[in-house]
Amino acid sequence: MKIAVFAGDGIGPEVTAQAVRVLDKLAIAGLEMVEGDVGGAAYYKHGHPLPEATKEIARGVDGILFGAVGDFSCDHLERALRPEQAILGLRKELSLFANLRPATLFPGLEGFSALRPEVASQIDLLIVRELNGDVYFGEKGMRTLEDGRRQGWDMMSYAEDEVRRIAHAGFKAAQGRKGKLCSVDKANVLETSQLWRDVVIEVSAEYPDVELSHMYVDNAAMQLVKSPGQFDVIVTGNLFGDILSDQASMCVGSIGLLASASLGTRQTEYGTVGLYEPIHGSAPDIAGQNKANPMATILSAAMLLRHSLGLEAQAARIEAAVAKTLADGIRGGDLGGDASTSAIGDAVLERL
Ligand code: NAD
Ligand code: IPM
Ligand code: MN
Repeated sequence: MKIAVFAGDGIGPEVTAQAVRVLDKLAIAGLEMVEGDVGGAAYYKHGHPLPEATKEIARGVDGILFGAVGDFSCDHLERALRPEQAILGLRKELSLFANLRPATLFPGLEGFSALRPEVASQIDLLIVRELNGDVYFGEKGMRTLEDGRRQGWDMMSYAEDEVRRIAHAGFKAAQGRKGKLCSVDKANVLETSQLWRDVVIEVSAEYPDVELSHMYVDNAAMQLVKSPGQFDVIVTGNLFGDILSDQASMCVGSIGLLASASLGTRQTEYGTVGLYEPIHGSAPDIAGQNKANPMATILSAAMLLRHSLGLEAQAARIEAAVAKTLADGIRGGDLGGDASTSAIGDAVLERL
């Protein structure tokens, strides 16, 4: 079993260090870890945010633990050289099209949600976000129009096979949960979304046991804070999923708690090859201060064990240790507490 650790920029190295401590503590027999450079850190070292050597590592492992990328000092670079291209490139390169972003309220955090406690306590949902298409990967450009005005443009599109495979991922996820799937789109305005909705309906014929509903993304944003308990699985496109998952994070208390798995179809003898990362970014405002909450990354490591290595019991152990840490009132600044990144790591290790 071989996994890669790509720590990246900002708080990326701080939070991945804690997740690696957790994996080390589990002392999983035969587990090998290799490191690689990504993001701004890789750009400054090798001249590219996703060097060939990193891609080579990525292609040869069962799973990748990813911290975060993003460095404002790179914002002036041409887009292909910006740190964010590392994560976009890995998702595309490895065909990791299904991004699972669970959001569940941990017991004891009812009062830390941005929502009222009685509303927050209902939350147990999974966002299944498409990751290889949409406006993210369409043709884009900047040009000057004939009348001299500058124009930026990005092409949004989905091909039916791209929608079909993520729809299947959404239905399968719902089958493993409460059997409810809500497809979120903007079919009242966008052709991309009309195709999305048509294909999701076609695929639904294969899942008569799943209750399918459709919601426009603007309404979904509202419903997510009004009554989040109505959602089981949400399946949506790349851009809408990005936005709704950050929103969902605050409904359960903090973006420092939300983990993710990005999966494709490649199987090994242990499980599905995937990339695992917190949904947050490099958080430059708190980087280097031992302030970041590492729980999202620790929980991502648990997802790695579950999906890519088939180690369900070990994954559940990590999740239980994180839940116990929170129930014991150990919280970072993101949750109104004063525990440092490393102190939270210590607390999770003690409870493993
Ligand atoms: P961000 O998620 O990095 O930070 C948003 C806010 O949440 C900040 O106030 C930050 O301090 C806080 N926060 C984030 N993670 C936290 C944690 N673990 N503990 C406590 N607080 C936390 O988003 P941003 O500020 O919009 O972006 C910063 C950089 O990160 C940008 O360059 C962006 O492109 C990049 N980014 C990368 C990823 C990724 O690597 N997958 C994801 C999102 C953003
Ligand atoms: C995320 C991030 C990325 C995205 C950025 C950094 C490219 O926001 O993983 O949620 O938009 O997918
Ligand atoms: Mn995001």
